[in-house]
Amino acid sequence: MTASATGSDKDRVLIFDTTLRDGEQCPGATMTLEEKLQVAALLDQMGVDIIEAGFPIASNGDFEAVTEIARVVKSAVVTGLARASAKDIDRAGEAVRGAQRPRIHTFLSTSPVHMKYKLQKEPDAVLEMVIASVTRARNLVDDVEWSAEDGTRTEHDFLCRCVEAAIKAGATTINIPDTVGYTTPEEYRALFQMVRQRVPDADKAVFSVHCHDDLGMAVANSLAGVQGGARQVECTINGIGERAGNASLEEIVMAIKTRGDAFPYETRIDTTQLTRASKLVSTVTSFPVQFNKAIVGRNAFAHESGIHQDGMLKHTQTYEIMTPDSVGVSKTSLVMGKHSGRNAFRSKLEEMGYRMSENAFEDAFNRFKDLADRKKHVYDEDIEALVDERIAHAHDRVRLVSLTVIAGTRGPQRATMKLDIDGSVHTEEADGNGPVDAVFNAIKALVPHEAVLELYQVHAVTEGTDAQAEVSVRLASDGRTVMSRGADPDTLVASAKAYLGALNKLKARGEGGIHAQAAAE
Ligand code: KIV
Ligand code: ZN
Repeated sequence: MTASATGSDKDRVLIFDTTLRDGEQCPGATMTLEEKLQVAALLDQMGVDIIEAGFPIASNGDFEAVTEIARVVKSAVVTGLARASAKDIDRAGEAVRGAQRPRIHTFLSTSPVHMKYKLQKEPDAVLEMVIASVTRARNLVDDVEWSAEDGTRTEHDFLCRCVEAAIKAGATTINIPDTVGYTTPEEYRALFQMVRQRVPDADKAVFSVHCHDDLGMAVANSLAGVQGGARQVECTINGIGERAGNASLEEIVMAIKTRGDAFPYETRIDTTQLTRASKLVSTVTSFPVQFNKAIVGRNAFAHESGIHQDGMLKHTQTYEIMTPDSVGVSKTSLVMGKHSGRNAFRSKLEEMGYRMSENAFEDAFNRFKDLADRKKHVYDEDIEALVDERIAHAHDRVRLVSLTVIAGTRGPQRATMKLDIDGSVHTEEADGNGPVDAVFNAIKALVPHEAVLELYQVHAVTEGTDAQAEVSVRLASDGRTVMSRGADPDTLVASAKAYLGALNKLKARGEGGIHAQAAAE
């Protein structure tokens, strides 16, 4: 898209978000339909141009998610991924059919190593498949993207032949992914320049970058690809994705916004929603955001050393190249206490970017009141933890009803726990080597399972000794992992919530041999 389309003198770069497809593909990041809809709504609201909602042929769940997202998204193009087979393409076409602006994204490997070992096909056969797949997709929708998987390790002549054939067959976007995170900025920029120069009719398609972070260069490579002529960037919130992840959306967008001198482009993203998007994706996937992560890490705008603090007090530009406000970080602000009313709480939620139904609001308000009764100061972060936790656990079948723990120097520590399992309440007592062990043993007694605890981590949501604890738990079962988080002013309650959250995820996926003890009785 050029300057004239937006009224600005900068070229528009389209943001293609693949959090719900490439992002969800990474181990443990599975999201429920409800969670995917929440993420898609926020992506649409913040100005993402294209939402890759899933891989419809992969499972009925993926198909349903793409179909539903296509139905509800208002502005963005909605796309589903398809391999170069008729079945895949037809399924993707069916899933995106209800979208205001549907796209099919079809891909095929083009590198020697992929063609020889993965596809076991000769280049000429691959070329035929490119033509057939794009043609089939174009018969279903007008907007077709074709990707040359492992494009950065593809021979240039062959890549150009494939791109030319795809454009001729009707592809409107050409993506050249760095599937294995192998390229360098210089090389990737030159690759786009070369292809766009050599392929006849290259100007009939938008070129796209798609980078993985195996060598930590996904963002740099993506920006270099744009300098080489690409005008679509495929990326994910928090950079989640296969292996080391994909290029991070927030980093790409803020690099373009902050360094307009080096990157004379613009995006349509409302950057004040970046922090909210990061938190939502982190909550629903339970993937923590590293503290020093650029743009959205909790330390991204923290100034600890004396010299820096002194500089900041004199002038913020001494150590700040972007303002916290510009990415939606509100200064930790004291909100309300137990006397705050519904209207104040509703405005607070709106200010924080939450849109919710009346029922969800009532539930959030009641939980806020409970928290305010137990905690002197309630901060924005507390409200976020409280609301996001509900979003993540709305469909849990096993819920914590109550927990009492006897802890201290004289063991054994003992937990008495009540769980609601599929609507009926069951109680159990268990000892443990420490209170957390006792809590987890009580859960195991009530919900027998073979899943193994791989990670247990605690951190405080805010400062102060009455801060809420946020606990992360990772469980592994049958070679697959799930993560979950729980927050509460009581660390043991937060631990129980996190463990139960992970069990619910396994239960939702029918894995892990989870059987409610009571249900079996
Ligand atoms: O990394 C990759 O090559 C992909 C394609 C399917 C676009 O994700
Ligand atoms: Zn990818």
